[in-house]
Amino acid sequence: MYIADRVMASSLVTDRTEVGNYFVANYPPFSVWTSEAVDRDARPRLAQPPADVPLGLYLHIPFCRKRCHFCYFRVYTDKNASEVQGYLDVLAREWELFSAQPAVAGRPLNFVYFGGGTPSYISTRQLESLVSRMDAVSSWRSAEEITFECEPGTLSESKIATIRGLGVTRLSLGVENFDDRILEINGRAHRSGEIDKAYAFAQSLDFPQINIDLIAGMLGETDANWQACVRRTIDMAPDSVTIYQMELPFNTTISRNLLASADAQEPVAAWSTKRRWVAEAFEALEAAGYTIGSAYTAVRDPRKTKFIYRDRLWQGADLVGLGVASFGHVGGVHMQNLDSFEAYCAAVEEGRLPLNRALWPTGDERLIREFVLQLKLGSVRPSYFHGKYGVDVLDRFQAPLDGLVAEGWLAIAGDRIALSREGLLRVDSLLPRFFRPEHASVRYT
Ligand SMILES: C[S@@+](CC[C@H](N)C(=O)[O-])C[C@H]1O[C@@H](n2cnc3c(N)ncnc32)[C@H](O)[C@@H]1O
Ligand code: SF4
Repeated sequence: MYIADRVMASSLVTDRTEVGNYFVANYPPFSVWTSEAVDRDARPRLAQPPADVPLGLYLHIPFCRKRCHFCYFRVYTDKNASEVQGYLDVLAREWELFSAQPAVAGRPLNFVYFGGGTPSYISTRQLESLVSRMDAVSSWRSAEEITFECEPGTLSESKIATIRGLGVTRLSLGVENFDDRILEINGRAHRSGEIDKAYAFAQSLDFPQINIDLIAGMLGETDANWQACVRRTIDMAPDSVTIYQMELPFNTTISRNLLASADAQEPVAAWSTKRRWVAEAFEALEAAGYTIGSAYTAVRDPRKTKFIYRDRLWQGADLVGLGVASFGHVGGVHMQNLDSFEAYCAAVEEGRLPLNRALWPTGDERLIREFVLQLKLGSVRPSYFHGKYGVDVLDRFQAPLDGLVAEGWLAIAGDRIALSREGLLRVDSLLPRFFRPEHASVRYT
């Protein structure tokens, strides 16, 4: 997934999981991006020569078999095969339009990410034809990493073989939970038997990296079941495990039901329980030889298993985001595509870049963005920021850093600012302290 609109929330003031965003995906907040900045900043920057940073490509495939009750992504469950094919044609055309822009033209792709929605929803034939059309514009065979998100129940042996044949290096499986009852009450389309089959096919095809996504705090989750999920994950021994704490942004089905009913019970475990579940999972994964690589990930072999998409983005790489409502960042400007299916497709079919809103961050905002995103890795080096921005972050962020040290979430030693494990587990709730005052209390999305 890229990094959709997720946020910090007032709900964190309390321990209850209330409706509101938690996850800090980008900075400045999406709510301050504007349509005026599209013509003023984004289009002129795209017409400039390229920045000297790696270039990535994100493709948003917004189709799913079912909409999960907790999901906040832009997804459609009602499109027929010809509408899906029409959308894929538009994606390829959009890539032609972006590739003609001076800021993008002729640049090699360093990383590619198929996110969603569910990229594995599309058929083998559709996938092959999409990739061959995209490849004709600009080859991605030299990309260091190609990630492909999958919902386990959409994978057949032949589809996984096609995905591998297209050069995918990182297969990410949305497992979420192994208990069929919990999968069902959360509206997931897959069941545990499909996880086992998909994982076995994937393993037999030698993907350089297989990742498993889990969610701590699904509806109906219990201590015993969570422990069983963690054990089962460790037995499968994937290259990496990503664990999200369940959040309830405004546009999920659970949130809508909660807001509609005055006497609704708290349906999702409290934040302290979800943090404890992630802490227990991290401890069990560490005991099994994994290394904690960020607030959300554990990797089996950190020398071999990287996450290039995340690391490059968090260091300011360019990203062309293709698809309805996709986010990108080119030449220092944040941009997002139109978020209605029809308006997005119509713009591309008329030969226009389908941009909806944008923001050109100042130097200080770029510094804050990199600093907060990299803190999610667990530690940052002041010398990196001094080398890149000429700024002493210990001085620039003295007040929030002092506060976090005093509260025990963070320690500073030599050239290292490091979160404690407890700090890491709540990192998204701490990051707004580093925001500029005008962004500290605005709505995030
Ligand atoms: C685009 S989905 C992955 C691919 C595929 N659509 C699937 O779900 O299997 C990205 C991930 O976001 C996470 N996610 C979705 N909604 C969430 C929520 N409300 N809170 C926390 N994580 C969430 C899930 O772990 C999911 O695997
Ligand atoms: S399958 Fe993934 S993208 Fe689709 S609704 Fe469920 S969580 Fe969202």
